[in-house]
Amino acid sequence: MTVADQISYYGDRLAILAHHYQADAIVDHAHFVGDSLELARRVTELAAEHIVFCGVHFMAESAAILARPEQKVHAPVLEAGCVMANMAPASLLAVVLARLCQSGARVVPLTYVNSSAAIKAVVGRHGGAVCTSANAPRMLRWALDAGDAVLFLPDANLGANTARVLGLPHTSVQRLDLRASGNHVPPAQPSIRVYLWPGCCAVHHKIRLADIERLRRHHPEARILVHPECRPEVVAASDGAGSTSYLIREAAAAPSGSTLAIGTEDNLVQRLARRHPEVTILPVRQVLCSNMAKTDLAALQAKLAELEIAHPVRVDAKTAGAAREALERMLAACASGA
Ligand code: 13P
Ligand code: SF4
Repeated sequence: MTVADQISYYGDRLAILAHHYQADAIVDHAHFVGDSLELARRVTELAAEHIVFCGVHFMAESAAILARPEQKVHAPVLEAGCVMANMAPASLLAVVLARLCQSGARVVPLTYVNSSAAIKAVVGRHGGAVCTSANAPRMLRWALDAGDAVLFLPDANLGANTARVLGLPHTSVQRLDLRASGNHVPPAQPSIRVYLWPGCCAVHHKIRLADIERLRRHHPEARILVHPECRPEVVAASDGAGSTSYLIREAAAAPSGSTLAIGTEDNLVQRLARRHPEVTILPVRQVLCSNMAKTDLAALQAKLAELEIAHPVRVDAKTAGAAREALERMLAACASGA
């Protein structure tokens, strides 16, 4: 059976969701393609019994947390993890929060969706929330209003870029030193509004200021747009930054004959270049997420073949309950758009 035959065999019982960084072979078979926020929202609206999530593990885990109990979420490749999500172990978060709160300050944790269910659960139990690249400014404002300071994790780049969007002085943003098992973390001080966990996306971190400077020299006509997981100096030197869906919207709106340089994962940049031949679309630098690439057509086909007997992605009930609170705070805070 081809993948198309398998999909039509399951009919309404199946929904295939894919992130924008998936290869065309997967995107072409997906019922819905989106950024992290759109995919999370879509899960809560689906009626299908089987949800096959083509992305990386934290996405499938979030989908499993948000899905109804009778629905099954499957990941074609269980080993497709996220380097950034792995930079924040839940046990370390508990230590860091305890140390920051020693001063009696209320420090609200705000975790990027690119984190494990265990991290989201700790955040949920501390009254915090999840954010995505599409709603990070709104959620950082929400978290600042909810307490004295915010612990933003695990992406220091997104945290710093978002604090800048809100106009916070850089002296009120502090990157934490997590060596010695978090024992260097000081009690929260009144002058600091945002503490940054020192994680990053290894893929977007490869894009350097020198790449922007080279583009400005060789393509002075280009508008440069990047993902906010990029280094702060890269975002500051660009003409705009936003989620994958923002980059897609900007490419669609670019005038014919114009040049756009996009700084994000290459599957998306190349797809936009093919989709908009009237615009010259260049990568700021070619960067690939090897974990996103693990889901290929053969893996999707194999998962569809065993769907009725496959073990779905499961998160234990206690972790899922607390993580759901953190996810639902985000969905409620952003109910009227990102
Ligand atoms: P968005 O699609 O939400 O912008 O996230 C990008 C990402 O890092 C996925 O790994
Ligand atoms: Fe994780 Fe970066 Fe890959 Fe996204 S692009 S899945 S953040 S490693």
